[in-house]
Amino acid sequence: MRVGVVHGPNLRLLGRREPGVYGTATLDEIDARIAALADELGVEIETFQSNHEGELLDHFETVADRVDGFVVNAAALTHTSVALRDALAGVGRPFVEVHLSNTAAREGFRHHSFLAPVAAGVVYGFGVDSYLLGLRGLVARLGTSAR
Ligand code: DQA
Repeated sequence: MRVGVVHGPNLRLLGRREPGVYGTATLDEIDARIAALADELGVEIETFQSNHEGELLDHFETVADRVDGFVVNAAALTHTSVALRDALAGVGRPFVEVHLSNTAAREGFRHHSFLAPVAAGVVYGFGVDSYLLGLRGLVARLGTSAR
């Protein structure tokens, strides 16, 4: 099983970005935690980060053929991008939407997700553990699907 992990805009700033909201772990540290769990679960992962919507769209299109599903933190694009929603709905791979913070408890403009209605599941608010719970959930889903 192979899973794509995708980080959207501004997530390379983690560690110094609003630590009261996002914690102090850097993106490299988060990726290391994800890689350790993937090893434990016997899953291969492929990780990508971009600040650019078009690059993310290209990535989903390109990578979908070689992964079974995605764990996605689309960051602010979650709340704005119909194009990202269409890409994820279009590539035909299940994905889990994750957020470090509980977006439902924050500003109103973060309450809506274009991605959640087409996601296999969502995990918000557990910091780095959101990614780990999302990966576990996706692997369980893929393991029980008929693919
Ligand atoms: C975020 C939440 C988004 O609202 C925000 O724009 C981010 C990070 C999170 O992981 O909590 O960039 O996706």
